[in-house]
Amino acid sequence: MELLTADSKNILKAAQIIKNGGLVAFPTETVYGLGADGLSSAAAAKIFEAKKRPSFNPLILHIADKEDLEKICIINSELIYKVIDKFWPGPLTLVLPKKNIVPDIVTAGNTTVAVRMPDHKVAAELIIASETPIAAPSANVFTKLSPTTAKHVAKQLGEKVDIILDGGKSRVGVESTIISFENGEVYLLRPGGLPAEDIEKVTGKLLVKTKAKKITAPGMLPFHYAPSVPIYFLDETNPNEFENKKTGALLFSKTDFKFNFSSIKILSEKGDFIEAAANLFSFLHEFENEGIEIIFAEKVEERGLGKAIMDRLKKAVKKYELNRE
Ligand code: TXA
Ligand code: MG
Repeated sequence: MELLTADSKNILKAAQIIKNGGLVAFPTETVYGLGADGLSSAAAAKIFEAKKRPSFNPLILHIADKEDLEKICIINSELIYKVIDKFWPGPLTLVLPKKNIVPDIVTAGNTTVAVRMPDHKVAAELIIASETPIAAPSANVFTKLSPTTAKHVAKQLGEKVDIILDGGKSRVGVESTIISFENGEVYLLRPGGLPAEDIEKVTGKLLVKTKAKKITAPGMLPFHYAPSVPIYFLDETNPNEFENKKTGALLFSKTDFKFNFSSIKILSEKGDFIEAAANLFSFLHEFENEGIEIIFAEKVEERGLGKAIMDRLKKAVKKYELNRE
């Protein structure tokens, strides 16, 4: 594995790897992606292998030009154009009926494909130079924490990727919001970096699926995005029960806790959701690196980006609840 600064020369080198069917981890505004040629089954297969990801979990294709959307999927309503005009490039993924050019392994056999246009110069340059849509999940091992820096990628995937392009810390810090268009309705499949309220100004009310027939989005897996350290909600578990452990507190904006935590991290002193989302995964990675044995997270209000933050925290907590039972 080579960890390279994301300058023009190295981006071209990385594009050559993509063209040759290899794996490149690259920065986007949300999190780092683990990229491969999205129109090659063999290349996309390497992503599943490297992430230890089950093959029923489909990948997102990343494009750099809105016009490329029509090459890979069918656009059957004006609303879709309105949405991409307003929000692309940006942290929003659309699930749309796929065209034949998209390999089945990318969509896990679904007739739909997830597509997004990242708002990041390095990602855009890489996609253009690779001359193909890039399939990229978050560059973490399946169910582990998503990476927001090149170092986080190296920690989990190190030798499994050919090149990691270092483009600094991801600005948004949580994965894209995913929506789908079905029978004239718009569904929210995963809350993420673009607040649902902003999308609703264009689409009207977003619907949420309660009973999924198939697992098609991470929101439908029982757990995801979990740090390797057990994590609980502060208002559900008493830290005093764990006095002999190295404890970490992941707080939103508060600082006044009676308990003497070994490490305290405040997502945003001024209580700003945007800043909090940007810090979420990197603080969890820091707790892992500090040898913290148990994390207590404060709940945040589920509006705006608070919804994406709580979604990630709830799934992480869920993993350890299951283990406790
Ligand atoms: O911000 C992001 O979206 C990042 C960066 C790298 O772009 N990518 C990302 O990918 O989070 P990933 O694979 O970790 O999460 C994408 C999720 C998958 O878990 C999958 O369930 C859902 O998108 N997805 C992909 N294709 C789908 C489809 N056809 N229908 C429904 N859900 C789909
Ligand atoms: Mg992921």
